[in-house]
Amino acid sequence: MNEVFKLIIRFYLPLIIVLPVVIESCAKKELVFKTVENQPAAFSYLPRTEDGFIDWVAAIDRGIIKPRDSIELKPTKLQSPPLNLDIVFDSRTMPAVTYPHYQHTQWLDCTNCHPKIFKAQKGGNGITMEKIFGGEFCGRCHGTVAFPLKYCERCHVKK
Ligand code: HEC
Ligand code: HEC
Ligand code: HEC
Repeated sequence: MNEVFKLIIRFYLPLIIVLPVVIESCAKKELVFKTVENQPAAFSYLPRTEDGFIDWVAAIDRGIIKPRDSIELKPTKLQSPPLNLDIVFDSRTMPAVTYPHYQHTQWLDCTNCHPKIFKAQKGGNGITMEKIFGGEFCGRCHGTVAFPLKYCERCHVKK
């Protein structure tokens, strides 16, 4: 019994002390336990875009997630059904922007955008990139809760 105890002290004790230090330093260098962008483990099931962001639109399309209309068990008001309407903003300097209502209204209700962020009128809002970078219009969500503005080509879709 004494021999076994000595063995434990000799080999296992140093290991128990050394192991956490090794793991910790690996974790710091992100060699182990690396969760992408420090996101919860459940997010690893979600599809990603080429740049590593969660592709929420693809997650719905593939049926991986199904957002609810409300956090209430029995919502008093149901969200409006998705609207299939693309709005194209032509630009002389950049590839045209295609704003897809469909993908947005899978998540959002009309009243999330109309009339406070956008008047429901094509070309009726004087949208410019400068204002978007300033946090208006598309910039109310893109860069905060939706994909960031640096991915120009996700909005300025080449045709
Ligand atoms: C994420 C924001 C957003 C949501 C949510 C949204 N819209 Fe829009 N909507 C827009 C934008 C942007 C435009 C274009 C405005 C512009 O051209 O300046 C637009 C334009 C419109 C137009 C004008 C089309 C035209 O040809 O003049 C209608 C009608 C409209 N939306 C209806 C709806 C309805 C109905 C819903 C809900 C089912 C909805 N929208 C949800 C952003 C949104
Ligand atoms: C009220 C919030 C909100 C506003 C305002 C908004 N978006 Fe979005 N947008 C979202 C969300 C949420 C998603 C889905 C999450 C993601 O892809 O990051 C999305 C996704 C998209 C996508 C990806 C669609 C796909 O098929 O992958 C495009 C393109 C886009 N938005 C363009 C725009 C443009 C252009 C405007 C301004 C005219 C705009 N959005 C305004 C919230 C918004
Ligand atoms: C969330 C969607 C979105 C993203 C991301 C985005 N843009 Fe835009 N951009 C727009 C919209 C909407 C317009 C307005 C189109 C119009 O002129 O009617 C616009 C217009 C422009 C214009 C035309 C001039 C102006 O100010 O209106 C330029 C240039 C431009 N964007 C450059 C960029 C660059 C560079 C990036 C990436 C760093 C970028 N955009 C990313 C939506 C986007």
